[in-house]
Amino acid sequence: MLFRLDPELAHAATVECCRWTGRLAPLRWLASQMFEDASNECLRSELAGLPLANPIGLAAGWDKSGRALGMLGHLGFGFAEIGSISARPSIGNPKPRLFRLPDQRAIVVNYGLPNDGAGMVARRLAARQRRIPIGANIVKTNDGPGAAAAGDDEILDDYCHSVATLAPWADYLTLNLSCPNASGGKDFFAATGNIGRLLERLATLSIACPVFLKLAPNDDLEELRRILAEVEPFDFVRGFLFNLSPGKPPALQWTGPIGDLGAMPGAVSGAPVGPLIDRCIARLASLINRRRYVIIGVGGIFNAEDAYRKIRLGASALQLYTALVYEGPGVVRQINRSLVELLHRDGFSHISQAVGIDAGSGRV
Ligand SMILES: Cc1cc2nc3c(=O)[nH]c(=O)nc-3n(C[C@H](O)[C@H](O)[C@H](O)COP(=O)(O)O)c2cc1C
Repeated sequence: MLFRLDPELAHAATVECCRWTGRLAPLRWLASQMFEDASNECLRSELAGLPLANPIGLAAGWDKSGRALGMLGHLGFGFAEIGSISARPSIGNPKPRLFRLPDQRAIVVNYGLPNDGAGMVARRLAARQRRIPIGANIVKTNDGPGAAAAGDDEILDDYCHSVATLAPWADYLTLNLSCPNASGGKDFFAATGNIGRLLERLATLSIACPVFLKLAPNDDLEELRRILAEVEPFDFVRGFLFNLSPGKPPALQWTGPIGDLGAMPGAVSGAPVGPLIDRCIARLASLINRRRYVIIGVGGIFNAEDAYRKIRLGASALQLYTALVYEGPGVVRQINRSLVELLHRDGFSHISQAVGIDAGSGRV
């Protein structure tokens, strides 16, 4: 039924449905019965100090403004990330800005970061029940396609405002340094020194929760070394994720005919991005100090094999979004169950033993 609706309408309808059902205890209980699994000790772990009942998280972009927080903890996820959230509310890019590619198990997204702004989201986070760790993904405000380019200080101030507003209420923060569909962030942070400049400013805010950086996909060792060197002095940074690439880069892996991509502006999520992200994870995992940093694997996870591959390449936890659209929330329980079987098949008694075992092995 949802697939008969316009994609953005279907998205908004499911978020609103979760918002309203999440307010009612019997419906929260019902969702838990349907989607949660008795936690398996083998999957119970921690992410930069945050306890996880399982490693599968909800990726940023589904609940952009924390409207469905009441239900997020009942869908089987081990953790969830809301956002991206900006200092000021934004209406994002003009419509249409969301397209389905079901044959490719992909979505083309050009939302441009619509959200209710950090102040409103902080109030929602403050009022939530704590059931699973919730992260807030922070980005520079998108003032729309016609807006004047923001200056350096404006970009840095925007992030600092959101971090100061959301850090007291979130379990972790992700700094989205690479939104593929909005200016005022991705190009700025591609320049040497600017990640360090932002972190220097944030260091003055005494952030108590772990901070992760969502980077543009990158499998260039020199470039990754440069980023790690910039991050090194700031011990509140505890890990990394990779975002979608802007546009339709050649690194995307299509299966069969694609359709009219020219009529679909935006970045591609889902199955086509999986191999690219796997390469990025393997490269980064071969460089990081694993006692300090974690990698959250996100991009093209639809089943336990996809999840397990990312874990073996170096991801300690995972996130998904597109699989939720095509498979429904039951996919989370399914992945966790099959992941346990894969770990046992290979002789691991705990997920941590498999993390990074293939990093640097050239298995991508
Ligand atoms: C419709 C849609 C909206 C998204 N919005 C955001 C966003 O606001 N911030 C962000 O960091 N990532 C966003 N993402 C990227 C996802 O968090 C994730 O990194 C990406 O979709 C890859 O995972 P998947 O293949 O499981 O979907 C969005 C993805 C989709 C499909």
